[in-house]
Amino acid sequence: MVVPRMRPRSAMGMAGSRDRGTHRGRRSRHPHWSARMTSNLDDWRAHAAALADRLTEQGTITDPAWRQVVAAVPRHVFVPEFYSDDDPPELLTASDPRWLGLAYADDTLVTQRMEHPDQPGFAWSTSSSTRPSLMLRMLHILDVRDGIAVLEIGTGTGYNSGLLSERLGSEHVTTVDIDPALTDAARLRLADAGYAPSVAAYDGPRGYPPRAPYDRIIATVATEHVPVPWVEQTRPGGVILADIRPRGMTWAGALARLTVAADGTASGPLVSCTWGFMSTRRDAARPGIPEGVAIDATTVHTRTSEIGSEALHTPGLALLIWQRLPGINAFPGPDGTEITTPDGSWVKAPKTTPAKVEHGGPADIWKEVEQAHTWWTDHGSPDVETFGLTIGPNGQRLWHETPDGTSWAAPCQL
Ligand SMILES: C[S@@+](CC[C@H](N)C(=O)[O-])C[C@H]1O[C@@H](n2cnc3c(N)ncnc32)[C@H](O)[C@@H]1O
Repeated sequence: MVVPRMRPRSAMGMAGSRDRGTHRGRRSRHPHWSARMTSNLDDWRAHAAALADRLTEQGTITDPAWRQVVAAVPRHVFVPEFYSDDDPPELLTASDPRWLGLAYADDTLVTQRMEHPDQPGFAWSTSSSTRPSLMLRMLHILDVRDGIAVLEIGTGTGYNSGLLSERLGSEHVTTVDIDPALTDAARLRLADAGYAPSVAAYDGPRGYPPRAPYDRIIATVATEHVPVPWVEQTRPGGVILADIRPRGMTWAGALARLTVAADGTASGPLVSCTWGFMSTRRDAARPGIPEGVAIDATTVHTRTSEIGSEALHTPGLALLIWQRLPGINAFPGPDGTEITTPDGSWVKAPKTTPAKVEHGGPADIWKEVEQAHTWWTDHGSPDVETFGLTIGPNGQRLWHETPDGTSWAAPCQL
């Protein structure tokens, strides 16, 4: 039988110092702007200022320059339509009285949905404007400074590249997305809002060589490893901020903040990020969901384990389980979680312990979960932020506490 692909729980899509005075000239960069406003949009500035204040009050924005940026960038221009949270989702446009308020809410707004050709009848989110608090948190972590060149992977609506353009000046910003329809639309919206960063339709894991080198690369789409071209296209001392996350177990990821060294290696800590991004698409015409796995459930083995399915959902431990089971695909249910691996091995683990675990296929992959659990408890149940990643001559290594300490091959799925 072929296990259906999971529906990820959190496929969302999910921070500088001096003000360069970019806001001062903002009105003159697009004098047509206020004239184009219809009366119900006249108060967008109040909405944007309220969002900036809220992010400041909650501690997400700590730099006044970023507060001004959020207050100055018209998010509604980048989300002329988006899907509601209703089931089924409704496409909201400016004619809906909820639209303007939602455009300035601290929420992810799904702007594109797509069926997988092999899986008709269910649409996956394939683009969105990420929740502003996550975006601003990332922009702070990225340590954006005047005069630097930034590459964003995952243009989407263009809102985040609008924030970067407002902060740095458009000439310092490059953004790429695999979907040309999105980059075309984003370029126009950015122009409407008064910005002209370099926007290209390009497969993000390849970076964007024509504008390299960069001082910062920020990925607003999840990958299962840090692509080597990002390291090669970042100047020594530059920073890469990437959402590293398994396609099939989206809650297990984290942000990797890597600093590139003069010798071409990159290393740095993981930063906890419960709400991750949607996974990269390998093809603009298909959502970036995990591949289906054929499993044979005719022979079922049963055994008792001290570990239940909660292990798969425990931050830190889930990372180690992913490292041991790259390509893991997890299907949470009300009583437990089923997992598969690309070789056709599968486990059905209940929440309760001792757990009566059912498994089949070529390997007893629950043993890997148990071994990861043993290491994790022996080391004081470490959280995600005690781990880090290094990319160097030995490939990608996931390490604990220090790059020179205990490390494992990172769970790369190329
Ligand atoms: C969460 S959205 C990005 C949000 C965006 N930064 C914004 O401000 O609206 C993720 C984006 O990554 C893009 N993406 C997916 N796979 C990609 C790939 N291989 N290369 C580049 N972009 C990709 C999607 O098309 C989608 O627009």
